Amino acid sequence: MVYDNIVLIGFMGCGKSSVGKVLARQLHKKFLDVDTIIEAEQNSSIIDIFETKGEAYFRSLEQKCINELTQNTGQVIATGGGVPIHSTISEKSLIIYIDADFDVIVNRLSARERQKRPLFNDESRARALFDQRKNIYKELATFSVDANQTIPTFIHVIVDFILDKRVK
Ligand code: S3P
Repeated sequence: MVYDNIVLIGFMGCGKSSVGKVLARQLHKKFLDVDTIIEAEQNSSIIDIFETKGEAYFRSLEQKCINELTQNTGQVIATGGGVPIHSTISEKSLIIYIDADFDVIVNRLSARERQKRPLFNDESRARALFDQRKNIYKELATFSVDANQTIPTFIHVIVDFILDKRVK
């Protein structure tokens, strides 16, 4: 199997975007971030899109965005935490699950970072969402990486896995 793209999945705040930037640099690939693209295209923040147009509309934007991005190849794509739940991701993607525990995520997210995430307003609801989703992430992933430590400590585990595979 030759994969088209590397797609990073995982719960809000697990580090998909930060990992993606490092990975893209190390593998000499282009980095793309679904949330950032949606915000730029809509000229609006995720919070505003949720408030004014609703979650269902945001989910349709995500599906459209991931479909468009995976038309191209040789990229590292960071998804929003809901993409694997609400959208289909091209089967030709090498999917990496950034697997961090909920308590680690909570400690990593600053108050400002939480405010940008409408589904993180209420911590106990976020925890319930995490519990609902984690097995779905794991099942969908080509590879899961233990992300409970800092990025420099686990990035090489991802790179080693990818270098053993064929990606366009
Ligand atoms: C969401 C995750 C967010 C963002 C939106 C919804 C989710 O992205 O897409 O707030 O449903 O998990 P991050 O995973 O980058 O926080």
